[in-house]
Amino acid sequence: MTTHRISMYLARRLPPAVEAEMARQYDLRINESDAVLSAAQLIAEARGCEYLVVSVTEPVSAEVIAGLGPRLRLIATHSVGVDHIDLAAAKSAGVAVLFSPNVLSAACAEIAMLLILNAARRGYEADSMMRSGRWTGFAPTQLLGLGLVGRRLGIFGMGRIGREVATRAAAFGMAVHYCNRRRLPADEERGAIYHAAADELLPFSDVLCICLPGGSDVAGWLDARRIELLPRDAIVVNIARGIVIDDGSLIAALSSRRLFAAGLDVYANEPDIDPRYRELPNVFLTPHIGSATIETRDAMGFLLLEGMQAIEQGRPPPNHYY
Ligand code: DGY
Repeated sequence: MTTHRISMYLARRLPPAVEAEMARQYDLRINESDAVLSAAQLIAEARGCEYLVVSVTEPVSAEVIAGLGPRLRLIATHSVGVDHIDLAAAKSAGVAVLFSPNVLSAACAEIAMLLILNAARRGYEADSMMRSGRWTGFAPTQLLGLGLVGRRLGIFGMGRIGREVATRAAAFGMAVHYCNRRRLPADEERGAIYHAAADELLPFSDVLCICLPGGSDVAGWLDARRIELLPRDAIVVNIARGIVIDDGSLIAALSSRRLFAAGLDVYANEPDIDPRYRELPNVFLTPHIGSATIETRDAMGFLLLEGMQAIEQGRPPPNHYY
């Protein structure tokens, strides 16, 4: 008797151990080249599959869901963000959506700290000075930055990642303030100060760290008016989604030195970032690597597999989006 092997299409390359397990369990087809596929290419390549595995680079619109055909029953995204998936269209087509929360929170918080430290201590300028041979030796007034001890960190979006950032920042001596849809219970708040409205958080944010889930409702949120609510010489860090920031306003505030610095891991229109960022010495840039550790990317893949198995066995998956 032959048992049906579920067909799976993998739109981006995943770590070898994850791909090997997918191939063991499923009838797997992979986008071997790892090139980002257009919607039309994705439909052409993956049409007829039962499971579609994507990353943040594949917008899964209603058209894509319809184009993939009626056999599609599950979309799994190797990301915590689901803003690239039309969830309503998936739901009405009866397609389950799995994502990979929790397992990446520590890695993302580490990148937030890396950005905070590099923005505050002028990491880009220090590194370029060394590589360009412009360093003429120690000087008491060279590359003076801002210390973190006693500074206030404003976390916008206090989900799992935000809370991991808070723990690390507190260890660096920062006072944590936050804004979230709901106030956290005291054991999760751990002394952080709650602000019900984002505009109220901003004057308390010597360092503003944007950790909220991306989505069109927050497009352009950090604009010129809100930047003016930040203290002078504030630092802006973004590990959420690029569209949350109005690039023109942030670039103007960095150029005029109204803000001390910024640290960015995510951008509007990736990978075609606003080119003006490249010219600014007071911005530290990383290429969307929040969850990019070996163990985290493995764990994200295995969490998706765990969710698939749960669904197949009639159990609630730990990572079902709805
Ligand atoms: C996510 O998980 O949403 C990140 O942005 C990519 O890993």
